[in-house]
Amino acid sequence: MSIQSFHPPVRTLMGPGPSDVDPRILEAMARPTIGHLDPMFVSMMDELKELMRYAFQTENTLTMPVSAPGSAGMETCFVNLVEPGDKVVVCQNGVFGGRMKENVERCGATAVMVEDAWGSAVDPEKVEDALKAHPDAKILAFVHAETSTGAQSDAKTLCEVAQRHDCLTIVDTVTSLGGTPVLVDEWGADAVYSGSQKCLSCVPGLSPVTFSERAMEVVQNRRTKVQSWFLDLNLVLGYWGGGGKRAYHHTAPINTLYALHEALVLLSEEGIENAWSRHRRNHEALRAGIEAMGLAFVVRPEERLPQLNAVTIPEGVDDAAVRGRLLEEYSLEIGAGLGTMAGKIWRIGLMGYASSRRNVLLCLGALDAVLTGMGAPVESGQAVAAARAAYAAQGAN
Ligand SMILES: Cc1ncc(COP(=O)(O)O)c(C=O)c1O
Repeated sequence: MSIQSFHPPVRTLMGPGPSDVDPRILEAMARPTIGHLDPMFVSMMDELKELMRYAFQTENTLTMPVSAPGSAGMETCFVNLVEPGDKVVVCQNGVFGGRMKENVERCGATAVMVEDAWGSAVDPEKVEDALKAHPDAKILAFVHAETSTGAQSDAKTLCEVAQRHDCLTIVDTVTSLGGTPVLVDEWGADAVYSGSQKCLSCVPGLSPVTFSERAMEVVQNRRTKVQSWFLDLNLVLGYWGGGGKRAYHHTAPINTLYALHEALVLLSEEGIENAWSRHRRNHEALRAGIEAMGLAFVVRPEERLPQLNAVTIPEGVDDAAVRGRLLEEYSLEIGAGLGTMAGKIWRIGLMGYASSRRNVLLCLGALDAVLTGMGAPVESGQAVAAARAAYAAQGAN
């Protein structure tokens, strides 16, 4: 057979995730594999839970990584909390609210949809109206950071609305965790999930989740069995739970868990508030450059995610050709639009390790050169200087 080892190219990942992985994390992954019940591994698991509590800003006992990507974290929340016949109010302002609806229906429950325009935040007043109209709703589910559009919703207010109506909350923080404040205890959120591959700078394949005491009581007092054996928290906790005794549930992805541990050590070394402000500063510089080119953002400034910049593609510009040239000539990946936004927007990620001055300047210079080379209607030669001026104004020169 002529197939040989696979050697991927070195890319700069500035799409919607996965984002660039910190080399320290890749190095951690290459450490020796040990057993998933080895006492050394078990103490690493305890540290991992503590580090995740810091990232989520919570004291929740049940805080652990699901051994699969963000979609499995989403599914863990739904299959454990939703039973057949339940009613769940689901907010949709992009692709991922639609995936939540799918989850609710596959649990045999009814999804009451609250829709907002793609590119806008979830409107808390509409949510209040839906909860008034459906007093039997058990759960409110929403996406904090909508990766398909770059809009951030007001999670604190949405959780308050849910609490006034005695509803549990399921909150998607896949794109926000580590990039913008995720304050699980302050919000009083009940079931929150994320992903390893975005602002945590880790490799894909793990989904940190955290459940409040209130949510765990609901899980432990279900009328019916959780439909998924793999994601049933009552079983998973035999391995991830505390109390010293751990039993086999599934073979944990040992080396990927080393990677998450290292990613979270990096986050705690930087300090989470510093990570949030780094994401904000790099976004401001990118914004200055994008606007200097004459390009426009999809989302209003006050609802914009600093780590996911959705930019409108100028009239007549070939989306795929631009992204293709960025990849070929600069080894730089930016994201395409999803769903109804396909072909209309680019999604420029500044997530985790990829949220750096170097990447901002590389991306602006490359985009400027490629668009200018194609004769696109942009202001040429302004973007990098505008970003530099933004950094200088931040005192980061
Ligand atoms: C907001 C949001 N939710 C859920 C997911 C699903 O995560 P994964 O692709 O890791 O399964 C994503 C992935 O991009 C996401 O952005």
